[in-house]
Amino acid sequence: MNWTEETLRSTLAQPDFTSVYEQADVLRRERKGEEIQIRALLEFSNYCKRQCRYCGLNAKNARLTRFRLEPAEIVETALAAAETGYHTIVLQSGEDGWFTPEIIGEIVQAIKPSGMAVTLSCGEHPEEVYRYWKECGADRYLLKHETADPDLYRQLHPDAWLKDRVSCQKNLKRLGYETGGGFMVGLPGQTLDTLAQDLLLLREVGCDMAGIGPFLPNPDTSLGSYPHGSAEMTRRAVALARLLLPDANLPATTALGVLEPEAKRSVFSCGANVVMQKVTPNRVKRFYEIYPSELKDSDISSGRTQIEEEIRRLGRVPV
Ligand code: 5AD
Repeated sequence: MNWTEETLRSTLAQPDFTSVYEQADVLRRERKGEEIQIRALLEFSNYCKRQCRYCGLNAKNARLTRFRLEPAEIVETALAAAETGYHTIVLQSGEDGWFTPEIIGEIVQAIKPSGMAVTLSCGEHPEEVYRYWKECGADRYLLKHETADPDLYRQLHPDAWLKDRVSCQKNLKRLGYETGGGFMVGLPGQTLDTLAQDLLLLREVGCDMAGIGPFLPNPDTSLGSYPHGSAEMTRRAVALARLLLPDANLPATTALGVLEPEAKRSVFSCGANVVMQKVTPNRVKRFYEIYPSELKDSDISSGRTQIEEEIRRLGRVPV
């Protein structure tokens, strides 16, 4: 299939999606096997200078209790995750100036001897900073484009432009990072055409990973009264992402699980092959509130055992 904006849009609109799900599942099995990769997610600071209108961490949200972990605790937590069997740690934060490029670089350097792959997800930075972190040992970087419609992007990010975002992604790719992109489904003002453009942009950037999740309204933001995105449309987008990017790593996003736990399970038969498990310390976890969700306390090792069991129940192999 030669995917274009028009063929993607009309496919997304199809009443019955069964055959696309089947193709995506076959392709996933061919390229990725039955394994589901479990990645540790450590949210280390919820301070953010950005004003993204959908996100609870945005600088204007005065209702959020802010936290930042000490670098020593970040390293300690990552090493504990390595001991529990994780091979990848995702270090995620808001755009927090307290964490200078040097501090983040030192954290990466302290974690690398454990053998874990380090993924950073700390927002937009100049190319030199991305290069420096790569030299420190960072392997991957997550930076979603969020929406491929430049006007909608500007409405949702009064302090930012889509072209800067995409240029960061292309810099990351050029520097040799495994690059993770992605977008939200059901953003206010989004259409099926936008979603088709979102999928094509993943391919244009050459994303090695793509996180696709439903928009969930956060009552502490200006988009708090809009409806959430659809779980079905999210699964459709994931299936098409598999067809467009056969070798990509596609996570079942946390947001999809918050919206509908069953949808998070079923997306593994629609092309997804990755899941993230929080290892953020319990005392701060609930403050990393991008969107409302009910979080249970768990320690690193029992959290891992639980997710492995869930994956086995789906007939798949946890890695
Ligand atoms: N609903 C769903 N996903 C959101 N994100 C941010 N805010 C929301 C929301 N309200 C996603 C963005 C971001 C990731 C960390 O969380 O895609 O990249």
